[in-house]
Amino acid sequence: MSFLDQIEPLQQEAIQDFNQASDLNALEQVRIQYLGTSGKFTLMLKQLSTLPKEEKPAAGKLVNIAKGQLETALTSRRSVLELKAALPKNPTDFTLPGRRNSIGKLHPLTQVTEDIVGCFRKLGFVVADGPEIEDEYHCFDALNTPADHPARDAQDTFHLSAPSKHLLRTHTSSVQIRVMEKQVPPIRIIVPGRVYRRDNADATHNPTFHQIEGLYVDKNVTMGDLKGTVEFVFKQLLGDEVKLRFRPHYFSYTEPSMEIDFSSPLVKKMGKDWLEIAGCGMVHPQVFKTVGYDPEVWSGWAFGFGIERIAMIRYGITDIRLFYQNDVRFLSQF
Ligand code: DAH
Repeated sequence: MSFLDQIEPLQQEAIQDFNQASDLNALEQVRIQYLGTSGKFTLMLKQLSTLPKEEKPAAGKLVNIAKGQLETALTSRRSVLELKAALPKNPTDFTLPGRRNSIGKLHPLTQVTEDIVGCFRKLGFVVADGPEIEDEYHCFDALNTPADHPARDAQDTFHLSAPSKHLLRTHTSSVQIRVMEKQVPPIRIIVPGRVYRRDNADATHNPTFHQIEGLYVDKNVTMGDLKGTVEFVFKQLLGDEVKLRFRPHYFSYTEPSMEIDFSSPLVKKMGKDWLEIAGCGMVHPQVFKTVGYDPEVWSGWAFGFGIERIAMIRYGITDIRLFYQNDVRFLSQF
């Protein structure tokens, strides 16, 4: 066989052997067999010098092309085998169920919030939202809260220097106004959200905490609806033994206004008979007028309660600060 006729079959043979090598070691062996110092292809290269002078250029060119192709084939096989070597021996089974314990869980306050929201959803309430940086109008004025009310005092509230007349909302009640400004009755909303007050942190206070606001506006809404609704929700959340007590109180945006006290075996465990848990009342006619509702046509009630309070009762926690420290030893218990 002439020299030129040998090139092609040897090249084919080498490429086939490269592609059949099953791992990187085998591939290295095959490489040596063809391209090592005394490999088949190397020997052929050496033969070039023995060719007659006039055949050398054409033969040299072909051999070099073949060599280039061998090297390309070698490199591509090598990268396939390297990838194969990098894969785990026992591949992951992605169909196995997840191991949830180690992934993490919802914060206890989020769990309680979701439970409360779930109860109200059953009654046809929807979740509404509003800004934490609020203006004085929505936080106070529109809620019929006079300029001399203590909540408006710099001692009690985080006022912002800019924009002027803005503050960190002291309660979620501001969202009542924002929703009524945009919607016509009937309205049935709850508003879980973060609120801010100038308190020093201690076992029962923190400068920021969470509330849930509720607002129900329709024709012929009564206090009976309010009591029934609140009782249903608290029994769902904290058990059937729950007792509620409505005590007269004052809020400028409701008339009449009440505070709700709460009693249950869980409260007794905390060494108390009753715990104050929420503020509520029938929406003040002035609030309706401010948002453009006719108080002769529409009636409604509203309430607001602290989410931390409920979580503390539910789980028997006596220090509110535990919720904010993000200590996994605490969080992993829920
Ligand atoms: N905004 C009150 C607070 O932060 C709670 C409250 C009382 C909300 C009466 C209401 C309400 O909607 O009607 O203490």
